[in-house]
Amino acid sequence: MSTRPSAVPVRAMLVLGTRPEAIKLAPVAREMAAGTQFEPIVVTTGQHREMLQQMLGMLGAGTRIALDVMRNRQKLSDLTARLVRELGQAIREQRPDLVLVQGDTTTALAGALAAFYEKIPVAHVEAGLRTGVIDNPFPEELNRSLIGRIARWHFAPTTAAARHLTDEGVPAEQVFTTGNTVIDNLLWVLAEGSGTSAFRTGARRILVTLHRRENQGEQMRDMGRALCRLAVRGDVEIVLPLHKSPAVRDALLPDLENRPGIALVEPLDYLDFAATLADCDLVLTDSGGIQEEAPSLGKPALVLRTTTERPEAVEAGAARLIGTDPEALVTWAKRLLDDPAEYKRMAHAGNPFGDGKAALRILGQLAEDFAADVPVGLTASGPYSTA
Ligand code: UD1
Ligand code: UDP
Repeated sequence: MSTRPSAVPVRAMLVLGTRPEAIKLAPVAREMAAGTQFEPIVVTTGQHREMLQQMLGMLGAGTRIALDVMRNRQKLSDLTARLVRELGQAIREQRPDLVLVQGDTTTALAGALAAFYEKIPVAHVEAGLRTGVIDNPFPEELNRSLIGRIARWHFAPTTAAARHLTDEGVPAEQVFTTGNTVIDNLLWVLAEGSGTSAFRTGARRILVTLHRRENQGEQMRDMGRALCRLAVRGDVEIVLPLHKSPAVRDALLPDLENRPGIALVEPLDYLDFAATLADCDLVLTDSGGIQEEAPSLGKPALVLRTTTERPEAVEAGAARLIGTDPEALVTWAKRLLDDPAEYKRMAHAGNPFGDGKAALRILGQLAEDFAADVPVGLTASGPYSTA
């Protein structure tokens, strides 16, 4: 029987620090702010500065605490130490009923760890993604595996992600397949409809993003040079919103600046990015979120990585994992530009990542468990139970 008065809102701390966390927690924050069952406590860590700032308007809830942990080119160990210390203090001050973290960034890991140290249960949004290679992507595969050991609620976007968790010993009653909140947000933002595409010409339009740590350095430089080879065809317009990371800029700017056919632009706000994605013909990316968004809009995606934790898009035929070899980049891009049948097959494969109702499912589950007083201790049952 419930011991929690139903009129008392659940105090839910949402911890976010990077662009994709803001995008993917925005639907959850908006739903919380619109209802009465939850009191959202938004904590921004500032792991990203400009790229986070431009996303905060989507949250529908004001920021309660804004940390400022970003330092230029700081090491992962310094970032992690700063985050755990400052998030621990925020959690002690606010004493939330639960902490929500999203995905696999250092902010998410530090949020989960700090909550664990303060004995606050953790809900993990976008749980269960795995490549099976501990250092690829680096450090995200380790981050999400560690969060998987800490979390009380695991909100998996797909059944395959849910299966990874139960295979690792997480009790099935703590794993919920919800779809990915990125689809909720994409549908919401397209309905808003006020973004502006960054494409300017009538040429074939290619949208490119590159930022992953394991691609930085020579590999990213070579992929940039491959883009120059594509641009000399003369019939393409390549738009590349440059990530703020100095390591990305070091790798791409020297070869790509002032190249005909290539537009390097600053990171686009989400409205403009969604409009640009909707306007492109082809996506080349090493981003996680864009692999999920492109199939929703029928845009073939070539994934510039050697592994992916999102095999669903590849299996559906909407994306192709082509690796980081510059030759493969040029060959596959040309094939999709020049072979209408191949293009059509990928463009019509569909979106395997959800129906836009993931946030509602997440909040429904949390509300039910808090009403029934389930979240006692850090885990409900199973091998890591404290109950
Ligand atoms: C981070 C996440 C990665 C996620 C990506 C999304 C980790 C370890 N990595 O990678 O999982 O895919 O965000 O974009 O959590 N910088 C700015 N301004 C900004 C953002 C970054 O100047 O708005 C610079 C800073 O010098 C910073 C550097 O970029 O030190 C790298 O940022 P960091 O958050 O450490 O890693 P990302 O590569 O952005
Ligand atoms: N995005 C954006 N503006 C840009 C580039 C990307 O709003 O200029 C959005 C994109 O729609 C996706 C998210 O940022 O939802 C992906 O972020 P990123 O590639 O930085 O991180 P990842 O998803 O790889 O963790």
